[in-house]
Amino acid sequence: MNLVVVSNRVSRGKPNEPMTGGLAAALLPVVEKTGAIWVGSSGRVRDGNSKEPFAEVEALGAGALAMLDLPAAHYGGYYEGFANSALWPALHSRADLIRATHEDYASYREVNAFMARALLRFRKADSAFWIQDYHFLALGAELRDLGISQPIGFFLHTPWPARAVISGVPHHRALIEAMLAYDLIGFQTEEDCENFLSYVKNDLDLAVRDGVVISSSGRTRAAVFPIGIDPERFAQQATKAMTHPDVTRLRRSLNGEKLAIGVDRLDYSKGLGNRIKAFDRMWTIQPGLKRSVSLLQIATPSRGAIEAYGHLQSEIAKLVSDVNGAHGEVDWTPIRYLNKGFGQGVLAGFYRTAQVGVVTPLKDGMNLVAKEYVAAQNPADPGVLVLSKFAGAANELDAALLVNPHDIDGMARTIASAIAMPLAERRTRWEAMMAKLNSGTIQQWFADFIEALQDTHSVGDTALPEPRTMWPRRTADFAARYH
Ligand code: F6P
Repeated sequence: MNLVVVSNRVSRGKPNEPMTGGLAAALLPVVEKTGAIWVGSSGRVRDGNSKEPFAEVEALGAGALAMLDLPAAHYGGYYEGFANSALWPALHSRADLIRATHEDYASYREVNAFMARALLRFRKADSAFWIQDYHFLALGAELRDLGISQPIGFFLHTPWPARAVISGVPHHRALIEAMLAYDLIGFQTEEDCENFLSYVKNDLDLAVRDGVVISSSGRTRAAVFPIGIDPERFAQQATKAMTHPDVTRLRRSLNGEKLAIGVDRLDYSKGLGNRIKAFDRMWTIQPGLKRSVSLLQIATPSRGAIEAYGHLQSEIAKLVSDVNGAHGEVDWTPIRYLNKGFGQGVLAGFYRTAQVGVVTPLKDGMNLVAKEYVAAQNPADPGVLVLSKFAGAANELDAALLVNPHDIDGMARTIASAIAMPLAERRTRWEAMMAKLNSGTIQQWFADFIEALQDTHSVGDTALPEPRTMWPRRTADFAARYH
C-alpha cells in the first residue's frame, strides 16, 4: 500500500528546527520510517491560476515530503479565517470566539478542493489517503468528487465539542455531511467520538450502529485512537540533550533552586493566564517557596494575525510582568518567560532538568508535551507532572497530579505539593505513566489506524463490522511493515 498523509503543517525533520505543535512532531518519525508521502503546506502562497498546484518534493527518511504553495487569494480566509477563527475556537469549546465570514468558508472549501487536485499527482493504484486535522474536514469529499474510490481516513487532533457548540460554526451541517465521505474518522477520546456521533444522530438524523454512520455517502466508522509518542526515542534525546549548551546554561543558572516548566503555543486554549495566576497564588500562600522554585514558561508565538491571539500575547506578557514585579527580588526572577520556539532535542533536556511539568490547558485534544515531559525524566529521580483534567492525555496519564485549570487556588496547592513530593511517590507515579506511554506509542497509533482503515474500507457497504469502539492492536504482519 502507498500511503499519502496530508496535514496543513509539516516538518522537514531538521534536527534544530523549532517544533510548531504536536501534530508535525508526532508524524515525523512515522513518515520517516514507513515510507509514506507526507503532503502539506510549504508556508508560502502563490498567485495566479491555482488550478496548477506547485509542490516541492524532498526525501524524508524512507518516505517523502511534498510541500505545496497554497493559493494566495484563499490562504487568509482558509487559515486565519475559517480554520483558526471558526473551527479552532469551536473545537475547543470557545463558541464566544467564533468569527468567520461566508467568504472565509468559501476559501476554506477552495483550499480543500485545491489540495484534493494536488493529491492526484501522488495517487497510485494501491494508494490510501490519511487526512489530518481540522484544516481539511472536507478534503475526503473533494477527493471522492474527483473519482477517488480508495480508502480515505481522517484523524482529528483537537477535541470535538458538544452539539450546541459545533452548531455555532457557520455551515456546520454542510461540513459534517462532507466528513461522511471518509471511511474512518479517528478521535483522541471517547468523549470526542460520542459528541460527534451525537451530532450525526440528532442533527443529521442519520442511523448510527456500533460506531458506524450510515449515510447517502456510504458507511463511515468513528472510533478512538489516542495519539502517542516514541518514549524510547524521546528519553534518548533527553539524555543526550543534557550536554547541549542551552540546557547546561539553564542548569547552571538554577543554583539548587527547583524548576517548573511549561511549554505551549501561545493559544487561549492552553490556560496560560490561569497557570501564571496559580504560581502567583502559590508564592503568596507559601512565601517559603520564593527563591526555592521558579517557572520557565516557553510560549511560542502563534497565529499573530488573528485578533484573539494578539490580545492574548499582551495579556500574558502583562501578567508575567505583574507577578515578577510583585514577587521578584534583585537577584531572583520568579518567571522566566520566553516567546520563541526550540528544537525538540533541547526541549527534551529542559524537561529532564525541571522537577515539575505544568500542562494545564482549558481544553486540549491530547497534549503531547505532557507525554514528552514524562518520557524525558530520569528514572532514578523523576519529576512530577501536573496535568489538566481537560487534556486528552489525562485519560491515560491518571497517575499525574490532575487539576482543574479553572481552579487557581487548587492549582497553586497542587503545584506546591508536586514540588514537595517524596522520591518514592514520584517514582511510583512515573512508572505508572511510563507503562501507559509504552503501551500506546506513536508507531502503534499509526499502525492501528491504518489497519482499521483498510478493514473499514474493505467491509464497504456490504456488511457492518463487529462492534468495536477501540480497534485491536495491530497484527504481527502489519506491525512488521510499519515499524
Ligand atoms: O492541536 C492540533 C494542531 O494541529 C497541533 O499540532 C498544532 O499545535 C496546532 O493544531 C496547529 O497549529 P498551527 O496553526 O501553528 O499549525
